[in-house]
Amino acid sequence: MNDRRDDERKGFTPHDERSPLPALADREGVLDDLSRVISGAWSSFDAPRPAEPTLEDDRRRRLEGDLPEDAGDAEEALSDAARILDASVSPSRPLYLGYIGSTGLEIGVLASALLSTYDVNLAVTAGGADLVEDQALRWLADFVGFPLAEGAFTSGGMTSNLTALLAARERAIPEARTEGVGARRVAIYTSEESHHSIVRAVEVCGVGSRSVRMIPTDERHRMRPDALREDISEDISEGIIPVAVVATGGTTLTGAVDPLSPIADVCGDFGVWLHVDGAYGLPAAATESASSLFEGLGRADSATLDAHKWLGVQKSCSAVLMREPGRLRAAFGHEERYMLHEGDVANPVDLTLEYSRPLRSLKLWLAFRVHGAAKYREWIEKTLGNARKLAEEIRRSPDFELLHDPMLSTVCFRHTPSDTSGLDDHNLRLANLMQRDGRVFLAPASVDGKACLRVCFVNFRTTPEEVSLVLDVAREIGEGMADGETKPEEK
Ligand SMILES: Cc1ncc(COP(=O)(O)O)c(C=O)c1O
Repeated sequence: MNDRRDDERKGFTPHDERSPLPALADREGVLDDLSRVISGAWSSFDAPRPAEPTLEDDRRRRLEGDLPEDAGDAEEALSDAARILDASVSPSRPLYLGYIGSTGLEIGVLASALLSTYDVNLAVTAGGADLVEDQALRWLADFVGFPLAEGAFTSGGMTSNLTALLAARERAIPEARTEGVGARRVAIYTSEESHHSIVRAVEVCGVGSRSVRMIPTDERHRMRPDALREDISEDISEGIIPVAVVATGGTTLTGAVDPLSPIADVCGDFGVWLHVDGAYGLPAAATESASSLFEGLGRADSATLDAHKWLGVQKSCSAVLMREPGRLRAAFGHEERYMLHEGDVANPVDLTLEYSRPLRSLKLWLAFRVHGAAKYREWIEKTLGNARKLAEEIRRSPDFELLHDPMLSTVCFRHTPSDTSGLDDHNLRLANLMQRDGRVFLAPASVDGKACLRVCFVNFRTTPEEVSLVLDVAREIGEGMADGETKPEEK
C-alpha cells in the first residue's frame, strides 16, 4: 500500500488503473513462484534422474481443451507449464546425450528473461543493445580464432548457413539477387557427410539442389580435397560457375572436421568462397587439444557457429561470421520508404536475412562475462575428454563395437551381443528403448551402413564418472532384449 502511495507521489499511476493493459494481477507473487520453479529445475539438472516422469492424466486432458475465452489464473497456468516442461525431454539434463544438445547455462535463463522483458528489436537501431551484439560477435570470433569483419546473430545454423550462401552467391554472380542466375549453371560443393541444412539453403537460394556436388570423404569421414579439386576444375571446364565450398567443422553424425587448410588452398586456386559450417564443432577450435583440427579456419570467407549447442546457451543463438566487410550489405542491403538511410550508413536490416530480431547475443555476452573464456575452454575440453573416455571403454568391451575414433565429442557405436544376428535391428530397438527408459538419452543413427547408437557430449554438466553409465545402461537393456526379456512396443 505504501508503495502505491509512493508511486502516486512520484506521479506514477499504478499500471492496471491507468489502462486496460494486460498487467498480471500479482507481479511480485508470480515472479516469486517462478523463481522457485526455476531454481527447482536447476537443482534437478545437477544430477541425472533415475527415469523420466510422465505427465498426469488430468494435465494431459487439459492439453486437449479448446481455446479459453475467459481469463484464467496465472499461477495455475504457470504451474501447468512448469509441470509439462518437467515431463518433457530437456537437453539440460546431464545424461541427455542425444542429437546435439546443450547445457542450458543458468545465466542464459536470466538473459532470456531480461531480453524478453525489454524485447528490443534489432531490425532497427536499438542503442546499447547494438553494442552488446557487436561485442558478443567480436568475443565469439576471438574465442575460436576467426578474423571477423562483420557478422550477425541468427536463429540457428540453418539460417547462418543460408546467410553465408546468399552472400557467396552474390559475390560469384553479382546482382543474382535481383536478376536471378538465369540460364547460368552453378555449383556448390560440400561433403557427403555435411548437414542437410546446406542442401536446404541451396534450394532457398534458388539455384536448385541439383547444383550441390557431394564430395566423397576419406576413411575418417572428412571431405577429400583432391576430389574437390577435380570436381571444381571439371565444372569450370564445362562453364559451370562454382559459387561456394562448404566445409564442415564437426559433422553432425561423427564429429569429423574437414581438412580446412587443403580445402582453403583449393578455394584460393579457383577463387571460390569457402564457408565453414561449424554449427556444432567450431567451439572446439578454442581448445588446446582440438584447435589444430581447425587450422586454416582464418582463411575461410565465412563460418557458422551455434552458441545454442556447444557454448551452452539457450535456443536460439547462432552466429554467422564474415571475413570481408561489405558482403552482407551486398546480399541484403535495400532502400525502403519506411527505413530511410542516414547518408551511406547501413541500417541493421541491410545486413541480415531477418527483419524483427531479438537480442539473442545477450545470452552469450552474459555467459562470457560471468564465466569467462578460460572456464569455457575447460568445459569444452571436459566434454572432449568424455568422448575419449567412452571410446576407450567401448574399445575395451568385447560386447560393443566402436564405429569411428572420435575427432570431437561425438561417438557412434553398437551393441554386439554374441547371440544376436540382426545387429541393425537390435541397435535401433535398443536406442528406442533407451530413449524411453530415460536414464541415458541417446539417439539412433547409421554410420557406413551400420545402424548404431550415437552420443554427443556437449553438456558441461556431464561428469566423467557418469560416462560409464552409457555402456552400463545399454548393456543392461540390450542384454534383456537379446534374452527376449524386453518386448518393446513400437513407437
Ligand atoms: C553441422 C550442422 N550444421 C547445421 C545445423 C543446423 O543447425 P540449427 O538446428 O541450429 O538450425 C546442425 C544441427 O545439428 C549441424 O549439426
